Order: sequence, then structure tokens, then C-alpha cells
Amino acid sequence: MNITVIGAGYVGLVSGVCYAELGNQVICVDKDQAKLDILRNGAIPIYEPNLQELSLKNMAAGKLSYTSDLHRAVQLSDIVIIAVGTPSLANGEADLSYIDQAADEIAEAMNGYKIIAVKSTVPVGTNERVRDRIRRLTSERFDSISLPEFLREGSAVQDTLHPDRIVIGADSQSAADTMAKLHAPLTDQIVMTDIRSSEMLKYASNAFLATKISFINEIANICEKVGADVTQVAQGMGYDNRIGHSFLKAGIGYGGSCFPKDTRALIQIAGHVDYEFKLLRAVVEVNQDQRFKMIRKLETIFDGNLQGKTIAIWGLSFKPNTDDVRESPALEIVQHLVNSGAVVKVYDPIAIPNFRRMYGEDGVVWCEGALEAAADADALCLLTEWDEFIHVDLNQLQTVLRKPILIDGRNVFKEEDLAGTAFIYYSIGRPS
Ligand code: UGA
Repeated sequence: MNITVIGAGYVGLVSGVCYAELGNQVICVDKDQAKLDILRNGAIPIYEPNLQELSLKNMAAGKLSYTSDLHRAVQLSDIVIIAVGTPSLANGEADLSYIDQAADEIAEAMNGYKIIAVKSTVPVGTNERVRDRIRRLTSERFDSISLPEFLREGSAVQDTLHPDRIVIGADSQSAADTMAKLHAPLTDQIVMTDIRSSEMLKYASNAFLATKISFINEIANICEKVGADVTQVAQGMGYDNRIGHSFLKAGIGYGGSCFPKDTRALIQIAGHVDYEFKLLRAVVEVNQDQRFKMIRKLETIFDGNLQGKTIAIWGLSFKPNTDDVRESPALEIVQHLVNSGAVVKVYDPIAIPNFRRMYGEDGVVWCEGALEAAADADALCLLTEWDEFIHVDLNQLQTVLRKPILIDGRNVFKEEDLAGTAFIYYSIGRPS
């Protein structure tokens, strides 16, 4: 099939590359010339395992191209997929200006029947909004499809090529059938819904996963007070098939470009129809507080005074295997430590450039290695569970720290790992 994907961000780029990998003819459109230059030169602007290889391979095979010429790309395609960003507005609502712009530009380029699918995460009713905008500008026939995305950063290619399910929200059977055919090589689990349900399903999925995380984080906080171990609790809970093991890892809370934005947006969506989503409000609040649990621990250790203390930070990205620092808990943790007068030495395997761009330079010592960051620190805080940290030589680590105080914000170390070391170890929801 001939497909145009509008927006070569995380979702658009990965989807475009994977549709090409499936044998389709794909054009990825973006306005950002610098990004297009990177892509055309065979590189990719984000860190994502396997993406570069697949992009190169499919460009070389003539199945994938990158352009800023939306008009021409749309004219060459039967399916147009909108995958532009829907960032948060100040009130938490999703900003639909990129969606509107894409709709108008598609309308101007229409030269015959097309399927127009929205992959961006959008509030209920947005596909209808897109449809109305296009209809106002063209008399060409088209069908709207809601095509939500469920890939995770860091495993985006794997998730796209081996999804748990594909959701197709449609009100045209023939368009739904075409989209089902396009995705048939990926999974048997194709869920057909109406358009509004599909839009809602995406938010509901992310909100539910965020709820699991805040739930286990609250259990962790209670575990600390009653002397229980949240990892054992989560493990035991997870064997119940109705609960499952995933998304029950306690820590410093969720970050990234999706959960924070989508939970806020769903609260707003509910608010617009006079419904207060109390549970989700609590999920967001718990998540916001959770990152400060680590700071409270540090303050307790240092009698409430972090002035002049050297604190090492391991991990800046919102999760491992990505250089994405958007809404990473590390941003606020580092800021708070700097404001408290601590000397903050940070290290991340790949996220430092993005962190510097977002955070600035304010009072932080950037380090090129994990041990360099830990050297002469009064305490070490682990914020992201990169493999490099999990497999660190703890004996060597304790010799470089000024004080062997380790605060593990992701519960990566076990009691047996620390046996025989001098570490004073704190984690989340487990006995110290
Ligand atoms: C999330 C969803 O998992 C995807 O299905 C969805 O497509 C995507 O959002 C999106 O809407 O685009 P992503 O943000 O890449 O994907 O990352 P996750 O792996 O879901 O992790 C999100 C955050 O939750 C991370 O900060 C992670 O550290 C945290 N987390 C996750 C926990 O604290 N505990 C857990 O048990 C699991």
C-alpha cells in the first residue's frame, strides 16, 4: 500500500519505518529540515534500538523516503496517517494545533479517495474534528480512522512489529477492512471499535497503567511504615492473572512524553463533560509526590541539611534505553538538590545532552562515567535502572564514594547483592 505518515516524531518515525518493513511504500513527512537531513543521511534523531538499521535498509530498498513536501506525499498515497504531537497546554488539555494544521494541509492536497487515520493520542471527538476540517476544504471522498499507538520508547520497533493488539476505530467497514489488511501481518488481535471508543481506549490504557504505578508506589510507601517489602508484595500479587506482574514496579514514579500528558488530558476530557475523574487526579498527585520521597530520605540522612553535600545522580532519562528526559523525575530531583545547596554530580549513559538542553547548566557537575559521578560523593541516588548501573561492581563503587550511602530509586539491588559490602542502603518500599 502507499502510505504517508505525517510527523516524524517518535510515533510517526517508528510507524513509518515499520510499515515500510512490512513491504509498503512509505513517505514520512516532517517540517523540521534538520531532522530530515539526519534521516536522509541514514541516521535517526532519537535513540531507539534497531530503528536506524531498519530505516537505512528500507531507504536503500526504495520503500521509505523522508520529505517536507506534504502536498506531494499525500497525493502519492492511499492512506495518510497523522502522527503529529499533541503536547499539553498549560491547563493540561491536549494542544490540537498540529493536528488541525495537518488536516488543512491534507485537505488542500486531496486528489481522490483516501483513508485518513489519526495515530496521535487525541481527545475523544478529534477524528470528527479532523473530518469536518477536511470536508470544509475539499469535496474529495475519504474515510476517517482512529488508529491509536501503544508502542513504548526503548522497545518501539519490537512493540510495533509484535503488538499485543491493533485497535482500529472506524465507521466505514471497507476502510476498516483495508486497515485490518495492512496490519494483518503483525497480529491476529485486531480490535475493531467505533471511532470515539478507539480514541477513549488509548487514554484509558495509559491512565490504567499509570494507575497501577501510583497504586504500587502508595503500597510501597505503606510497606516502609509497616516493615513489609513491596517487591515481594508485587510479586505475589502479580501471579493473580487478573492483576498481572507488569507495571507493579515501585520507584520514583512515571515520567516520559505519554503518561504525564495523557493522564492530565483525560482529567480535562472528563472535566469538559462535567465529570471529575477523582481516581486519576489522585494517580497524578501520588506520582508528583513520589519523586520527592527520595529527597526526603536524603534530608533525613543528612539531618535536614543538604548544603555543601555532594550527591551523585545515576540516570536522567525517564526510563532506561532511551535518551528522552521529557517529564523525567530526574529534572525535579536535580533541581531540588541544587536549590538545597548540594553539589550535584550527574551521569547518564546517553541522556546528558537532552537533559542539559531541558534543564540548563545551573549548578550541576556533568560526568562521563558512573564511577566519576560517584567519586567523593556523600550519597548516590539511582534514578534510572540502566543495565550499566545494575551490573556495577559494588565493591569498587563503595571505595570511590566518600560515604557508602546508596539510595536506589528503582529497587534494582537485592539484599544478596549488597552482602559483604559496607553500603548503607535505602530503596523504595523495602526494609532499609
Ligand atoms: C507508554 C505506554 O507503555 C505505551 O503503551 C504507550 O504507547 C506510550 O506510553 C504512549 O502513549 O505513546 P512509554 O512512555 O514509552 O510508553 O514508557 P513505559 O515503559 O510505559 O514507562 C513509563 C514510565 O513508567 C517510566 O517512567 C517508567 O519508569 C515508569 N514505570 C513503568 C514504573 O515506574 N513502574 C513500572 O512498573 C512500569
